[in-house]
Amino acid sequence: MTAFEGFRDFMAKCDELGELERINGVDPYLEIGAIYAINGQGPNPKLFLFDEIKGYQKGYRMATNITGSRNRGRLANGTPLDLSGQAYRDWLEKRLDEKKPIEPEYVTSGPVLENVMEGDNVDLSIFPSPTWHELDSGPYIACASACITMEPDGGYVNIGSYRSQYYDRNHIGLHSAHGHHGQIIRDHWFERGLDCPIVIHVNGDPALLAAAGAGEPWGVSELGTAGWMRGEPVKVIKGKTGLPIPAGAELVLEGHIMHPDREPLRLEGTFGEASGYYQRLEGHPAPPLKIDTVYYRTDPILAGSPPYKNVGGGGGGDGGDVALMREVRKAGFHDVRGIGHAGPFTVISVHQMYAGHGKRVADWFMSGINNRPPRMLVLVDDDIDPHDAREVFWAVGSRVDPKEDVHFYENNWASAVSPRFTPEQAHVPLEHAYTHSCMLIDALKPFAWKESFPPTNDVSPELRRRIIEQYGEYLHLEPERGGDGRTQAAGGAGMRGEM
Ligand SMILES: Cc1cc2nc3c(=O)[nH]c(=O)nc-3n(C[C@H](O)[C@H](O)[C@H](O)COP(=O)(O)O)c2cc1C
Repeated sequence: MTAFEGFRDFMAKCDELGELERINGVDPYLEIGAIYAINGQGPNPKLFLFDEIKGYQKGYRMATNITGSRNRGRLANGTPLDLSGQAYRDWLEKRLDEKKPIEPEYVTSGPVLENVMEGDNVDLSIFPSPTWHELDSGPYIACASACITMEPDGGYVNIGSYRSQYYDRNHIGLHSAHGHHGQIIRDHWFERGLDCPIVIHVNGDPALLAAAGAGEPWGVSELGTAGWMRGEPVKVIKGKTGLPIPAGAELVLEGHIMHPDREPLRLEGTFGEASGYYQRLEGHPAPPLKIDTVYYRTDPILAGSPPYKNVGGGGGGDGGDVALMREVRKAGFHDVRGIGHAGPFTVISVHQMYAGHGKRVADWFMSGINNRPPRMLVLVDDDIDPHDAREVFWAVGSRVDPKEDVHFYENNWASAVSPRFTPEQAHVPLEHAYTHSCMLIDALKPFAWKESFPPTNDVSPELRRRIIEQYGEYLHLEPERGGDGRTQAAGGAGMRGEM
C-alpha cells in the first residue's frame, strides 16, 4: 500500500495514469458543474483540475470527480490497480480479514499551516465555490469533504462527507442527512445546549474522502479506517476546538455548527441531489456553521464531487458486495450466493434450503445494514446473477406472482432526498424525520414446488461452453457473455457474486 502525502501526490499519480485533465478560465457559475457532470455521465470520468477560475485568484484551483473512476477509487483506498475478477475478490477478502484501524499520529506542523486565517480575518470568499446545478440556490464551497466531529464526551470521532453551501465570509451550511452519524453527534451537542465543534477537510488525502464515505458503524472512527487504507497513520495537528486537523490537507475549515438558540437556522439548498432531482425548491432550514479558523496551503486545490443525474447504475460495483457478503456471514446466514445491483434494485441471490429462507434474509437486510435499507429489494434464486440486470429482470418477469410475491415494509429509514415524498411531508424538518415504505419483490421459485418449476430452455452451461469454444467466431459475444473466453456458464454456477 502506498500512502499519498496529500492531494498533489495523488493527482500526480492520476496524471501518470492519463486520468487528469487541466482546464483554465472556466466560470464557476454552472460551467464547472456542467463540464464535470457531462464528462462524469460518460464512460471516461476524468479528474478535472480547474485553474484561473473566473473571479478567483490564479492558482486557487478546483479538482472534481476525485475518486470517480475505478483506478482513482482504488488509489484512494489503497487497492492494487492490476487485480480483477476472483483474484481481486480474494485480495479484498484477505484485506478485510486483516482490517485493523491505524490511529492518527499527532504532529505539530504540516503543509496545511502554510496559511492561517483567524477570527475577523476569516474570508471564505477567496476560495472557488461553484454553483454546480442550474437551480442550486447558491455556490457550494465543499462537496467532497471529510467532516470531522466528536461526541461531547470527547470519545468517538466521526468522519462523514456532507456538502457545504457558501453563505458569507465566515458562515457556511451543512447538510448531514438524518441518521448519518454527523447529524446524531451534532444533536448530542445541541441537547446539551452547546454548539457542535467541527473540522471540515475540504480536500487533501483522498483516503480521508474514501473513509468519510465508508459508512463505518457507530463508534468506529473513520480516521483509523483512513490510516488502514493508507497503511500508515494519518498525520493530524490538534486544532483549536480539540479536533484533529489533517496536516497534509489543502484546505481545512474549523468552527462550530451553531445551536439554534444562538444563531437562527438558515435555508440550505435547493441543490441537485443524487436522485437526479432538486429536493425542496425553496430549500430547508438548517443550523449554519460559523468558521473561526481557516488553514490552507499556498495555492490551494479545493474539491467538488457533487451529485449529478446518473442513470448508469447497475453492475456489481468494485467489490462493494464482498463487504456486504461478510455482513451476511457475520449475521449467521448460509447459502446466500451474492448481492448485486440492477437498475434501482438491490438484488440478493439465495440457494433456498427451506421455506421462508429467502424472506428471512430479506427481512434482516431491510433493517438497514450500516446504511438505509434499499427502497426496492429483489430476491432471486442462485441460477440468476444478481449483478446482471437482464437476468434479474427476466427472473422478476417470469417468476413473480405480484399479489403473492411483492411485500411492503412501512416507515423505514429513508434518504431525505427522495423526490417521492408527498407535498405534506415537505414540511417535515429535512434533517430529522423522513421515512418511507420499501418493497421486496420475491422472485424466488416458490420453495414448496421449486423442483417442479418449469425448467428453463436456455442453453445449458456445459453445452454453452462447448459451443462457444467451437463456434465462438460466429457468435459475436460481448466480453462479459463469453467473448473473452469467460463463457456464459460463468453467469450461472460460477457467477460474479458467488462466494
Ligand atoms: C462525495 C460525497 C458527498 C456526499 N455528500 C453528502 C451530503 O451532502 N450529505 C449527507 O448526508 N451525506 C453525503 N454523503 C454520504 C455520506 O457521507 C456517507 O453516507 C457517510 O458514510 C455518512 O457517514 P456517517 O454516518 O458517519 O455520518 C456523501 C458521500 C460522498 C462520498
